[in-house]
Amino acid sequence: MARLRTVYICSDCGVQHPKWNGQCASCNAWNTLVEDVVGNDAPLVSKTVAVSRSLNAASEPLPIMNVAHTSAAASPTGISEFDRVLDGGLVPGSVTLVSGEPGIGKSTLLLQLVGSWSHTSLYVSAEESAQQVRLRAERIGVTGDHTYLVSAMSLGDIVAAIDKVKPSLVVVDSVQTIADESVESAPGSVTQVRECAFRLVQEAKARNVAVILVGHVTKDGNIAGPRLLEHVVDTVISFEGDRLHPLRMVRAVKHRFGTTNELGLFEMTDRGLVGVPDASNMLLADRQQGVAGSVVVPTIDGQRPLLVEVQALTTKVATGITPRRSAQGVESSRLAMLLAVLERRAKIPFASLEVYASVVGGVRLNDPGSDLAVCLALASAALDTPVHSDMVALGEVGLGGEIRHVTHLERRVIEVERMGFRRVLIPSNSKAPELRRATLVRAATLSDALSLAL
Ligand code: TYD
Ligand code: MG
Repeated sequence: MARLRTVYICSDCGVQHPKWNGQCASCNAWNTLVEDVVGNDAPLVSKTVAVSRSLNAASEPLPIMNVAHTSAAASPTGISEFDRVLDGGLVPGSVTLVSGEPGIGKSTLLLQLVGSWSHTSLYVSAEESAQQVRLRAERIGVTGDHTYLVSAMSLGDIVAAIDKVKPSLVVVDSVQTIADESVESAPGSVTQVRECAFRLVQEAKARNVAVILVGHVTKDGNIAGPRLLEHVVDTVISFEGDRLHPLRMVRAVKHRFGTTNELGLFEMTDRGLVGVPDASNMLLADRQQGVAGSVVVPTIDGQRPLLVEVQALTTKVATGITPRRSAQGVESSRLAMLLAVLERRAKIPFASLEVYASVVGGVRLNDPGSDLAVCLALASAALDTPVHSDMVALGEVGLGGEIRHVTHLERRVIEVERMGFRRVLIPSNSKAPELRRATLVRAATLSDALSLAL
């Protein structure tokens, strides 16, 4: 048996180092070296990276317009919110990585997916027993006889099951719990995950089977260790949400067969995940009108407009105590900046106030166009004056207190009107979108916006 040695592998570029270091000497990434154990004969550079480059045989150079159109037609999965993200469905022979935090609902979604696939499918569970998965399948109504289930952890057993069932879709749950016996590393280690994923990519291409790999991500959003997988697979889907809320968001981070700007929305129910075609309605369902600190903003995620409620609350603290700033769904550095702008440009004092800001429904605001709504919610809370309940606000806020223009104004306004809001507060220099029922209110600065909205 080969002797084992400890190495440190860069989870970004795959190069091995004999010693730990803060920075990878090969790709210069910081904090990416992870400990691993490999056989003494292991090559110094990842086999995966080396072989994946030689995977596609060289083709004849041709003028670009003479190259044949791709023959890869996507097959719909039967779950429309998932197909929306995949730009039609799954392509035969493609490999998709579905990543998300533990407990977010990956296994549930993929079990539903193998159930709704209209041909033979195989679900490989390497985390739960077949009995456990069957119980869950029954509960969420996955009972078709073309859906096969196997509980397996070794790559050999998985390939044998694929040989036997001959499915056109295979789900492997998860890539961090399977192992190739010929690789002397523990399941979940960079080497093991990479080699297993690479073998499955080869199987997918050789058999023209669509393969979905489940990958758990760590808190900081990295696909635990193997960021490398992103280079090996065709599509990376991220599955996000707040476990305490039912809303789940699915988006493509990388997609070789289509666009990556579609958002899929699901609600976690006691019968599995249900697509949410009208998320604004769901997110605004419990909204109380006329309460200080509440503002609705038409955000955009991918191509999809979404009306969400931003809430803020402030309370006085005794002198000498540092007031807390707590943010949910708003980045804390963004919150700090907006508070500073409010204090300096609109003269609202926050120094002796504790500040809580949150976005309802577990949504995260990554859209700079939602700055103005956050500012209005904060000011409304501090001044204890509600914002007009039929008004939504849109705009990026600059350090000078100026309101800057936002993208996709037209699309956002359509959603605003659909949800019955009557006034849209927008940056003063934005091109006027076409309106049917609502009226536009324009603000050049934060102070203007405050006097118009409160
Ligand atoms: P799961 O799919 O196991 O998450 P992951 O594979 O990403 O780790 O789902 C986890 C949670 O979802 C679990 O805590 C219970 C909840 N859940 C429901 O609310 N309804 C359901 O129908 C199912 C199957 C799970
Ligand atoms: Mg799971």
